[in-house]
Amino acid sequence: MQFQVNEERLIGELKTLAGFTGIEPSAIGIAVTRVVFTEDDLRARAWLKELAEAAGFGVREDAVGNTFIRWVGAKPELSAVGTGSHVDAIPHAGMYDGTVGVLGGLEAMRALKESGFKPLRSIELLLLTSEEPTRFGIGCLGSRLISGVLDVKRADALVDASGSTLAEVREAAGFRGSLIDVRLPADFYHAWVELHIEQGPLLEREGLTIGIVTDIAAPAGYRFTISGFGGHAGALLMPDRRDALCAAAELILSIERHALAANAASGGVDTVATVGTCEVYPGAVNGVPSRVTLQVDVRDTDPVRREDVMRAVRADCDALRLKRGVEIEETMVNADDPTQSSPHIIRVIEEVCEELEIATKKMVSRAYHDSLFIAQLAPVAMIFIPCRNGVSHRPDEYASDADIVRGTKVLAATLGRLASEPEGTA
Ligand code: GLV
Ligand code: MN
Ligand code: MN
Repeated sequence: MQFQVNEERLIGELKTLAGFTGIEPSAIGIAVTRVVFTEDDLRARAWLKELAEAAGFGVREDAVGNTFIRWVGAKPELSAVGTGSHVDAIPHAGMYDGTVGVLGGLEAMRALKESGFKPLRSIELLLLTSEEPTRFGIGCLGSRLISGVLDVKRADALVDASGSTLAEVREAAGFRGSLIDVRLPADFYHAWVELHIEQGPLLEREGLTIGIVTDIAAPAGYRFTISGFGGHAGALLMPDRRDALCAAAELILSIERHALAANAASGGVDTVATVGTCEVYPGAVNGVPSRVTLQVDVRDTDPVRREDVMRAVRADCDALRLKRGVEIEETMVNADDPTQSSPHIIRVIEEVCEELEIATKKMVSRAYHDSLFIAQLAPVAMIFIPCRNGVSHRPDEYASDADIVRGTKVLAATLGRLASEPEGTA
């Protein structure tokens, strides 16, 4: 298969996409914030649809805004080959997370098309809605709904910080209809491949340029609300206090302690736990905090070990309730299983890389991706490219043009092979 990835077009488009953000001065890189269904997100979507249509691909959107960009194959009745990722970005993030998979996917399809390649199966690029949990507290909204992992009533009732529900926000953004229709049938995709930056340091450290993801670690999210007793910072005497923020501080350290202990026990580094937000009420310098809400992210390659960490944290909560006279309420937002890539797709990527004389590394993804949920309905795999110093979710996130182009080339060749597989291929 002979085809040419257009580097200038691809890198130019990545830079254009990075401009769909509020102005954010950053001394360390190009800062991008693109929260789902904000004006910047909607502008980015409209622009991507124009690119897809200009390239001659069909575009369809579902009720949650997942956008399907389809190149119809010679046998459209066969299940398609899918690729894609997300364009939303957490606050003050970089310009490569997700976007490399979306624009790299588009470029891969265009490069194949321009070479005269004719796919047997349709090839479809997906822009998946809200991979990031920033607005509604739960990540991979679009891919969860596609695979039926998230109850549609619960999804529509999710609220953002301003109290608006997903149902209201998606409707205002122009995405109407029942979320039930977002779910895709189990045979919709023959195979799915997502291109993404590694978001960790291993490829760079080992001097390699392509990673093949074998497993995606299992994420879980929790919300803890700690209620104490507020009052005047001068007048409320120390012996009478039930300070919710002091209790939250102990809880945060408990979470860190148990994640570290899990790693010490396993001799590994697979358990990670983060308290990423802390909302303090009333949030005044001279007011004793009466209520605190924490958002907690815990991940592990082993979901049993992840649950053991949470059990230990809950025991500490019991002790904290007694010691500090506070209420602690826990809500589980999500607790997902890990997934494994398809050995067949891994093999196809390996063959492509052998042909292109690219050394590869098989690796675990510790970040989650939409592929974790697409795996519920299709065989999946992921292609990783290095990112500088392993940095991601920061403005100084960076992947080199050469690595982006190489990853896109590998993706294109992989999609080309998978889309040539006749009926009955595993
Ligand atoms: C995705 O952005 C993740 O948090 O892993
Ligand atoms: Mn991300
Ligand atoms: Mn991502």
